[in-house]
Amino acid sequence: MIIAPSIWSADLTKLGEQVSECEAAGADWLHIDVMDGQFVPNISVGPVVVEAIRRVTTLPLDVHLMIVQPERYLSAFADAGADHLTVHIEACPDLPAVLQKIKGLGKKAGVAFNPETPASAIEAYLAEADIVLPMSVHPGFSGQKFIPETLPKIQQLRAWIDARGLKTEIEVDGGIDGETGTQAHAAGASAFVAASAIFKHRDGIAAGIHTLANKLNGIDK
Ligand code: DX5
Ligand code: ZN
Repeated sequence: MIIAPSIWSADLTKLGEQVSECEAAGADWLHIDVMDGQFVPNISVGPVVVEAIRRVTTLPLDVHLMIVQPERYLSAFADAGADHLTVHIEACPDLPAVLQKIKGLGKKAGVAFNPETPASAIEAYLAEADIVLPMSVHPGFSGQKFIPETLPKIQQLRAWIDARGLKTEIEVDGGIDGETGTQAHAAGASAFVAASAIFKHRDGIAAGIHTLANKLNGIDK
């Protein structure tokens, strides 16, 4: 089970410290949301921020590209130190070529898809993807409510992945807390992104990570 704090809810004036806090508290990956103001209405960070984070942590950097024409920026993010490059299927008319390019850069390739996109849209690409990411909110903002219709999609993905003996991770992103994370886990998700539940936890980042991990592990009911 993988916990991936999303820095989009971090205090960006203390980003280095907060990343170190995530690492010390047992985070597995660090999720970085890249938004271009076109694919999504919001604008976030680019390769320079990935490069800065790379200098303060050894955690795998899980870069979620919510951008149009992601192929234009894959090398820049790879050079900045990203470990996973996740693109949106809705932004890739030639998805196999984009996945090939990511792998050619020596990075793990992820495919995300929006709440309106059915799981069947990515069925044909499961073997080529290291990670699939059914979005459980409309991408662009932290702090939204988990969309429960994501759960049957996760179940469907899990059934396909297991039936084919694949190792593809199922990552879930948006509105994840102890409760929705547990539901997603039961449906078959293996990696859990959380921004608000970790960075806005009233007792701090470490408490946010431990609370989520304990719920996912069934330690706290
Ligand atoms: C949404 C981003 C998410 C977001 C999650 O577009 O992809 O990674 O930061 O935020 P929470 O966990 O607050 O829903
Ligand atoms: Zn994300």
